[in-house]
Amino acid sequence: MSNALIVIAIVAEIRRQFLSRFMYSPLVFLIIQQTDASYRPPRSPTSAMRRCAGHADRSPRVAAVTRPAGQSAKEACPVRARPKEYGDPMTDEQDWADTHARWGEDHTELYDLVFRSRGKNYETEADDITRLIQSRFPAAASLADVACGTGAHLARFANSFDHIEGVDIAPAMLGVASRRLPGVSLQLDDMRTFDLGRKFDSVVCLGNAIACLESRADMEVAIQNLASHLVPGGVLVVEPGWFPDMFIDGYVGGHLVRDNGKVVSRITHSVRQGDHARVEIKFVVGESTGLREWTDYFLMNLFTREEYVSAFERADCSVELLDIPWTLGSAPHNAPGLFVAVRK
Ligand SMILES: C[S@@+](CC[C@H](N)C(=O)[O-])C[C@H]1O[C@@H](n2cnc3c(N)ncnc32)[C@H](O)[C@@H]1O
Repeated sequence: MSNALIVIAIVAEIRRQFLSRFMYSPLVFLIIQQTDASYRPPRSPTSAMRRCAGHADRSPRVAAVTRPAGQSAKEACPVRARPKEYGDPMTDEQDWADTHARWGEDHTELYDLVFRSRGKNYETEADDITRLIQSRFPAAASLADVACGTGAHLARFANSFDHIEGVDIAPAMLGVASRRLPGVSLQLDDMRTFDLGRKFDSVVCLGNAIACLESRADMEVAIQNLASHLVPGGVLVVEPGWFPDMFIDGYVGGHLVRDNGKVVSRITHSVRQGDHARVEIKFVVGESTGLREWTDYFLMNLFTREEYVSAFERADCSVELLDIPWTLGSAPHNAPGLFVAVRK
């Protein structure tokens, strides 16, 4: 072997050792991205969580509880500033779980305001879902909300269930939930892999979250994991994403909210890319201090009805697809139905 080849081999080994030790360090990630355009962050499902300071373990409990008093969620997760390379998830092949773990970083504080002003009524939804659960399991006393987001449904479920818990992959969303639900156990985790260490009478996964998974295999693993948290006879309610035949390619949506001197505009453009939908969401926020704007990307898988039904059946559940009784103001609700499954 020539000297040049030996030097290259040594440098490659040093780089490999360095990456395996420090690859979750945001500083290292940024430095490497500047010097090596081909470098991508680790693609494990929980890589975004590990990169978030204070969440070194795979299943850390509550972001807000683990960070020091007085420290904001943003301060607790210093890698939140999105590097340029994280721009468009469909062109830079960013890991889907990373995209969703970063969901809401820029707009968690606006999330409920925007959805409520579009007509989403978390209380009505939670009450209707409670009735569905109780009609199949009258004594249901415990509920886990997986992909609980900002915890608005959980706050209402607390009126009807003695024990509630939440799980979400996005630290920013869970930060809002933990402020809303003091004392409630919330876990930063992935719906495919979480383990709450107990069974529940009911488990829900609402707001298209199940469609945030990249592949049919991921969706099947998630439904299996959701169902495995149920007691026999327990009820699983899943709000699916759009079915392929219902998705409108090129759809443009828009919304403007005024709130206490603040104006928020949210414009969306949805396109179909193979089996997936890519939704681009442009926010412009005007406040007395000035204007700020940014673009978020939301990835959604267009699973078919049959793919969902087969996933529930493989998870040992009987399942039915019900119409959703709600609307978003005068517009149709954002999902095509509700799967209600009962564990055998
Ligand atoms: C559209 S929001 C819905 C939140 C809430 N369930 C609701 O109905 O308002 C989707 C949520 O799914 C979460 N999510 C996406 N992928 C996830 C995953 N693999 N595991 C857990 N949560 C996930 C996101 O962080 C986000 O909070």
